[in-house]
Amino acid sequence: MKDNILVIGGTGKTGRKVASKLESLGHNVRIGSRSASLAFDWYLPETWTKTLQGMNKVYITFQPDLAVPGALEAIEELTRLAKKSKVKKLVLLSGKGEREAELCEQVVMHSGLDYTIVRASWFNQNFSESFFLEPILEGFVALPQADVKVPYVDTEDIADVAVAALLNDKHNGKIYQLTGPRAYTFKEVITEISEVTGRDIAFTPIALPAYVNVMKQQGVPSDFVWLIEYLFTEVLGNPANSEITNDIEYVLGRQPKDFSDYVKETAVTRVWSPKILA
Ligand SMILES: NC(=O)c1ccc[n+]([C@@H]2O[C@H](COP(=O)([O-])OP(=O)(O)OC[C@H]3O[C@@H](n4cnc5c(N)ncnc54)[C@H](OP(=O)(O)O)[C@@H]3O)[C@@H](O)[C@H]2O)c1
Repeated sequence: MKDNILVIGGTGKTGRKVASKLESLGHNVRIGSRSASLAFDWYLPETWTKTLQGMNKVYITFQPDLAVPGALEAIEELTRLAKKSKVKKLVLLSGKGEREAELCEQVVMHSGLDYTIVRASWFNQNFSESFFLEPILEGFVALPQADVKVPYVDTEDIADVAVAALLNDKHNGKIYQLTGPRAYTFKEVITEISEVTGRDIAFTPIALPAYVNVMKQQGVPSDFVWLIEYLFTEVLGNPANSEITNDIEYVLGRQPKDFSDYVKETAVTRVWSPKILA
């Protein structure tokens, strides 16, 4: 049986891998994003019904994060519309250690639809495809919560778990907590990237209020500053979020990708090599 699966955020860090894995298995995939041929925008609910039409499963990645104000209402409305348009199953990508995200999970869990919650630790790819990339390219990284160990998880593993959850009913009703096999401090991350790329990248601990001030001075939008402050406080401030789980091995029957392997593979792409300006 081939499924019709909507992948919201289907060109993003996890979504593009989920979409390509599903397509290679012969499923019909529709991308849900602002630039998709049938545009879907989290902030324009009038775009949602058409995108859901004819779909029987949905992989949900919310933007920018399930913790932000308005996310709960958006997930409630999307779930209601999904049910109305005969969707049978939802797989929600959530953030490990985020209380607000858990409220959104509850909506999906009580929707009456089949569901799996994929609750992920911080991604490896934050260092190569997201907000930590720029300071690495500049050769100077200053971050708060410098002593906290984070069990970064790879988006390849998240995508494999999401695909398994979408395709196999044995994952219905489950909450999977995904982490990598080892936890790293920011200094350890930067040291490893420096060594593998052969670049001199400095790491300096900084207090959270000072970090927030720097972001404000640099003109970072206030809602993004709020989110970063929330994540550094709520997720990194809670020692329970450093724990390592074995849910990836449970679902996939193999070990999660080690951070060192991610660094070696990513260095080869030269994403961490500063561009030489002409
Ligand atoms: N990064 C982490 O460490 C981490 C950890 C745990 C959980 N999470 C959760 O992961 C989720 C993000 O997933 P991801 O990292 O796979 O995606 P991502 O790379 O952040 O997302 C990019 C995708 O979202 C689409 N998009 C952006 N804004 C949109 C909007 N307003 N409406 C509809 N689509 C939009 C983009 O396409 P267009 O530009 O074409 O719209 C693209 O397909 C968040 O909910 C976050 O909380 C992240």
